[in-house]
Amino acid sequence: MLTVAMCVALVGCLQAQELRGHVSIVLLGATGDLAKKYLWQGLFQLYLDEVGKDHSFSFHGAALTAPEQGWKLMAKALESLSCPSDMAPSHCAELKDQFLRLSQYRQLKTAEDYRTLSKDIEAQVKQEDLREAGRIFYFSVPPFAYVDIARNINSSCRPGPGAWLRVVFEKPFGHDHLSAQQLATELGSFFQEEEMYRVDHYLGKQAVAQILPFRDQNRKALDGLWNRHHVERVEIIMKETVDAEGRISFYEEYGVIRDVLQNHLTEILMLVAMELPLNVSSSAAVLQHKLEAFRGLRGLNKGSAVVGQYQAYSAQARRELQKPEGFHSLTPTFAGVLVHVDSLRWEGVPFTLMSGKALDERVGYVRVLFKNQAFCIQHERHWAPEQSPCLPRQIIFHIGHGELSHPAILVSRNLFRPSLPAHSWAEVQERPGLRVLGRPLSDFYAYSPLRERDAYSILLSHIFHGRKESFITTENLLASWDFWTPLLDSLAHEVPRLYPGGADTGCLLDLELNGGHLSFSQQQPEQLVPGPGSAPKPSDFQVLRARYRESPLISAWPEELISRLASDIEASALQAVQHFGKFHLALSGGSSPIALFQQLAMGHYSFPWAHTHLWLVDERCVPLSDPDSNFQGLQAHLLQHIRLPYYNIHPMPVHLHQRLCAEEDQGAQTYAGEISALVANSSFDLVLLGMGTDGHTASLFPQSPTGLDGEQLVVLTQSPFRPHQRMSLSLPLINRAKKVAVLVMGRTKRDITMLVSRVGQEPRKWPISGVLPSSGQLVWYMDYEAFLG
Ligand code: BG6
Repeated sequence: MLTVAMCVALVGCLQAQELRGHVSIVLLGATGDLAKKYLWQGLFQLYLDEVGKDHSFSFHGAALTAPEQGWKLMAKALESLSCPSDMAPSHCAELKDQFLRLSQYRQLKTAEDYRTLSKDIEAQVKQEDLREAGRIFYFSVPPFAYVDIARNINSSCRPGPGAWLRVVFEKPFGHDHLSAQQLATELGSFFQEEEMYRVDHYLGKQAVAQILPFRDQNRKALDGLWNRHHVERVEIIMKETVDAEGRISFYEEYGVIRDVLQNHLTEILMLVAMELPLNVSSSAAVLQHKLEAFRGLRGLNKGSAVVGQYQAYSAQARRELQKPEGFHSLTPTFAGVLVHVDSLRWEGVPFTLMSGKALDERVGYVRVLFKNQAFCIQHERHWAPEQSPCLPRQIIFHIGHGELSHPAILVSRNLFRPSLPAHSWAEVQERPGLRVLGRPLSDFYAYSPLRERDAYSILLSHIFHGRKESFITTENLLASWDFWTPLLDSLAHEVPRLYPGGADTGCLLDLELNGGHLSFSQQQPEQLVPGPGSAPKPSDFQVLRARYRESPLISAWPEELISRLASDIEASALQAVQHFGKFHLALSGGSSPIALFQQLAMGHYSFPWAHTHLWLVDERCVPLSDPDSNFQGLQAHLLQHIRLPYYNIHPMPVHLHQRLCAEEDQGAQTYAGEISALVANSSFDLVLLGMGTDGHTASLFPQSPTGLDGEQLVVLTQSPFRPHQRMSLSLPLINRAKKVAVLVMGRTKRDITMLVSRVGQEPRKWPISGVLPSSGQLVWYMDYEAFLG
């Protein structure tokens, strides 16, 4: 009846009715936040766009709430629907009225409720003499509810032959590769791939949705430019001023990388980096090319990322999650990640992805910055934006907010005048004084959408038209998790850099690209005791210097601690080389020194490597190429990045005569002989040790029968951990060193740190307690977690 009422002229109506298909849209979670904020308005916009065309509609708001209460809540959400500003109010009111009449609430709780829904749709289609075109089910519900609903839809709400089914899901789509895979498998048992539409609302943001069309329409200009020869770097940025308060139970489990980088920023990265298909309107071609771009992503490692956390976060987490006073969260609320795409097009071009909460401004953009070799002689006032090679050359997809405050695409005038669809994008009016990323707006050809549209209204329209390229396929999702999961695992215990939030953060989070690594450009000023007042500022931070077992102790957050230790080692090296012409350094293996090795490799250009001899403190009895080998760790994280004469490298001879650590091969004696031959008085300039949770150091374990005293410089020992056989410097040799540094990091070391602080010299129980250089210096380097817990 309604369909009939909507027909304007009888003849037109009869013609339309022959063709008309009916589409039922079921919004699950119709009274929830997302529905209230975006989805109802998006559905109304879809109706406004499609009314009078080939389809008729019915909208079913659904939730678990009982009908009367549910309808009241839904009606509230519908009250605030609005029309585009250029629509006459009377026309708007008429269409709104029609939309409301087509919308109803229903409780969907039991299997029976789903069967009834399906029957009602069939009855309506029959009664109005329509052809059923399809059904859309929008899951605006928490993921734990997905499977039940999916089962019900699959078993009783599929439309008949000839009509399509589309199910729409909202993130999170899993927590890591495994959980995403599990969820995908479950959903895959109910729905075909082509039926599923996973939403990433950033793909509906106008500037993002325009990236591929822009690349396509400007092929001629971009063909020669969009590659490693011309692009210096790409930045994909989403800064937020809000913090996570109110949603910590979600956030604590996800953090910024899972919440934003794995999805929104990665999707954007793909749109920039993927090869452009010949036909950008072909969903299949776009999805295929995007998937190929995923394959080109170089694996991430710890050095690819930096993480931060706004200072108030842990207190908020304690409050919202009822955690005890001592609880400190490691969840990052800020992350910067350096990504490389290993393809002919992008090799060597850094892509920086960055997002954070509680920052100084809200803004999102993608910036493609082109190389510029120009060296300009004349003063800036003589530069003409259209021609001058001196001005930065960049293309900015401005997603929203910031000073510009709306979506836009900006192309530096010294690049080319871009072409954009004239019916939907127009040049931005000059706004004197307005600057975008530090440049006046007048530097750019700047275009904005004629009508700003919310991402959800765009995506709902794409769902309706079956444009799958704007959604996340299962393969795409798993490829993304495949890329991010190893980094997330490696950061699981990383202590994020604390930042005060807002403008007070100052330069604390500024980033620096350094070879293949990304780091904070400023060292972390350490905070031991917050100053008076609420949120401490960078100036309130201080480094802790104290004593431990009567020797100097340096304590800081891990990053600062490692920097400090690296600098101290470098200073010792310079001093030794200046006085004796060489520096003998004995290094431990294991995981704690890795960050130190990386720091030494990347940041210490004055290190006298050519005059440094590297020795091992201990070694596992495995081949040197084995991943468990300490030498292998040294090779991977340090040796391959520095220039050290090969005769200055002294791995322990654990693999002789095709066997491992056989007494008869005399490997320990050989190493001792090498030390005696090269190191004056067998006194290393610096020995770096660690401390195990059982009090072991080097490979000297409690109750060890060898190596704690006596004449032997190098010994074979047994470890309670695999691999059991070890070779180690002995305590007497360690104690002959000029300097011994003990590096202790992480919360798991807290108990042994406490214990060892109290015990005397009892190396048989705790070998570390026997470390006391006879005439050298001992310094403890502990991070706060190891020292303060
Ligand atoms: C969501 C994240 O996906 O995107 C939020 O879960 C974030 O943490 C939001 O705030 C940002 O979206 P927008 O559209 O406000 O930029």
